[in-house]
Amino acid sequence: MAKRELYDAEGNSRGWYSEANRVNDLTGREWVFWSRSVITRPYPPNLQHALRNRHGGQKPPELCADLVRAFSKQGQSVLDPFMGVGGVLLGASLAGRAATGIEINPEWIRIYREVCRLEGIAEQEAITGDSAMVLPTLSGRVFDLVLTDVPYWKMDRAPRSRGAWKRVGEPSRPARGSHLADFGTGGYADKGEWLARMGEIFARAAALLKPDGYLVTFIGDMYRDNEYHCLSAELAGALQRVPGLVWKANLVWYDVSKKLHLYGYQYSYIPSLIHQNILVFRREA
Ligand SMILES: C[S@@+](CC[C@H](N)C(=O)[O-])C[C@H]1O[C@@H](n2cnc3c(N)ncnc32)[C@H](O)[C@@H]1O
Repeated sequence: MAKRELYDAEGNSRGWYSEANRVNDLTGREWVFWSRSVITRPYPPNLQHALRNRHGGQKPPELCADLVRAFSKQGQSVLDPFMGVGGVLLGASLAGRAATGIEINPEWIRIYREVCRLEGIAEQEAITGDSAMVLPTLSGRVFDLVLTDVPYWKMDRAPRSRGAWKRVGEPSRPARGSHLADFGTGGYADKGEWLARMGEIFARAAALLKPDGYLVTFIGDMYRDNEYHCLSAELAGALQRVPGLVWKANLVWYDVSKKLHLYGYQYSYIPSLIHQNILVFRREA
C-alpha cells in the first residue's frame, strides 16, 4: 500500500502516512505519540475560556481536537450526547469534522453559541434536550465517532473546593467564594441510577455509530464522603454491558492546570485528583 511523507504548515516532516490507514489521518510517528496511554501535553486556556468556565466541567477544545484527530478522519462526523458548553464541538471544528451535540441545559448551548460568535467559528448542530429522548430521533443517521464527557454522579450537589480545609468525617461545606458546580443537571439520585442512565444513553449513542467506529468518553474518578469512587472502572463496566461495544483503552489525561490543595493533612490520605480517564471503546458488532 502506498505511503507518502506529510508536512506541517511550517514545512516540517510529520512522518510517513499509509493510504491503508482506515482509523485516522495520522502518520506512523504521530500514531506512536497518540497511542501512549498517558496524555501529558499542556492545553493552555483559549477559545473564550473564562466564558466556558462558567460551566465548571468544560474540556479544552484543543484536547478534544487531538482526540477527534486520533479516532476519525478528515470530514467525518462526531456525536456528543453531553455537550456542555461545547468542548467537543469546538474541537471537531478545529479538526475539520462535522459534529452534533445534545445538551439538557439550554444555558450551556447559549454559551457555546456565544463562543462561536466571538471566535468566528461556524456553529455545529446543537440540540437542546435529554439525550435519552433525543438520540432515538436521530435514528437513520450514522456517526463516525462518539466523543463525550459524562455528567458526574452527585457533582451537581458537590461544592467546588477552593482551598477549603475539612477534617475527615466533617460534612462537606462550600469554601468561601465557591459556588455549587451545577454541570450535572441530569438529576441522578444515586450512583446506581447514574450508571443505569449512562448505560442506557450510551447504548442509544452506540446504535448510531458506524461499525468499527470509536466511542470515547472522559470520566474523572472522585473522592466523596470519605471514600474513593473509581467511577472510570464503574462506567467502563456499564459500557462493557452495551451489546457490541468492546473496551480498547483507558487513557489518562494529566491535567497540568489543576491546583494542588492540602487535603486531609494530619488526618488521612486524600488524593489530589489531577488526572481524568478517557475510556476508549469500539463498536465491533
Ligand atoms: C461534564 S459535562 C460536559 C462538558 C463538555 N465536555 C464541555 O466541554 O463543556 C456533561 C453535560 O451533560 C449534561 N447532561 C446531563 N444529563 C444529560 C442528558 N440526559 N442529556 C443531555 N445532556 C445531559 C449536563 O448538563 C452537562 O452540561
